[in-house]
Amino acid sequence: MAEPCILVTGGSAGLGRALAGALVDEGCRVIIASRDAARGLAASGDLPALGPRAEAWPLDLADLGSVAELGRRVARERLALTAVVANAGVWPRRRIVTAAGLELGFAVNHVGHAALIDALAPALGDGARVVVVASGLHQHGRIAWDDLALARGFDARAAYAQAKLANVMYALALARRQPRWRVNAVHPGVVRTALHGDRVPPQAIAPAVAARALRALVLDPRHAATTGRYFDQLTARRPAPLALDRPSQDRLWALTEALIHPRRGRATR
Ligand SMILES: NC(=O)c1ccc[n+]([C@@H]2O[C@H](COP(=O)([O-])OP(=O)(O)OC[C@H]3O[C@@H](n4cnc5c(N)ncnc54)[C@H](OP(=O)(O)O)[C@@H]3O)[C@@H](O)[C@H]2O)c1
Repeated sequence: MAEPCILVTGGSAGLGRALAGALVDEGCRVIIASRDAARGLAASGDLPALGPRAEAWPLDLADLGSVAELGRRVARERLALTAVVANAGVWPRRRIVTAAGLELGFAVNHVGHAALIDALAPALGDGARVVVVASGLHQHGRIAWDDLALARGFDARAAYAQAKLANVMYALALARRQPRWRVNAVHPGVVRTALHGDRVPPQAIAPAVAARALRALVLDPRHAATTGRYFDQLTARRPAPLALDRPSQDRLWALTEALIHPRRGRATR
């Protein structure tokens, strides 16, 4: 049987890097996708340390052109993906707007990943697993439907919580739309990574410990049928009521589709 092939966004650092190492150790082929995955890992000598089963592919989730290019490369190389881990994330401390007019955290954490999974759909067969790395902070999130780019007022924690709520809502909506995949969202715990800048919370756990929950959702046979769930580390929990609200999930889905396929929407109008 072919080795499992797993794409991990943000596999160059923090939690994603720990997961990539764990998956390689279990005999998986791992595609690490991040902005400077190739440059960063090769320069630090870290990619060779992962061995020949790990590859670094460039991906900028804030740029839908870069997302589409990765999708084309997966098609060109005829990859069949066992799983995709939507792990890359940012927590901007000030308001940054992307070229597409989106708030950077929402663009990278949510929209870029939705576009990526859409682009990778042909490479994801029956039973493929999609793991969306969200956060417990989604509980404090609201979707600013009429001001997604947060132009009327920016608070870094509220912006991050909005993006992470979108991660959970999107995962649950995707699970309903793609019953042949196994789609789950996970809060990995508070983890000692660069996401926190120089204010790492004292209770933060090591990335290798946090990666265990992701690894279970990606590989554990006990999760072969698990879909449409939210996990707090290894434990399935109810997410925030807003995340479970289907009309809101569908509204976010439609809004996201319009952002990632603008021409498709215009053609049908
Ligand atoms: N750390 C925590 O306590 C915690 C808690 C709950 C949830 N999470 C979630 O866990 C996930 C991983 O975060 P982390 O803590 O491991 O953070 P991290 O150490 O800062 O790593 C973030 C990763 O995302 C990649 N990335 C950033 N911007 C990108 C972009 N535009 N396109 C592609 N990749 C990009 C980075 O690689 P490049 O710089 O090479 O692009 C890096 O590999 C995130 O989704 C985060 O929200 C973390």
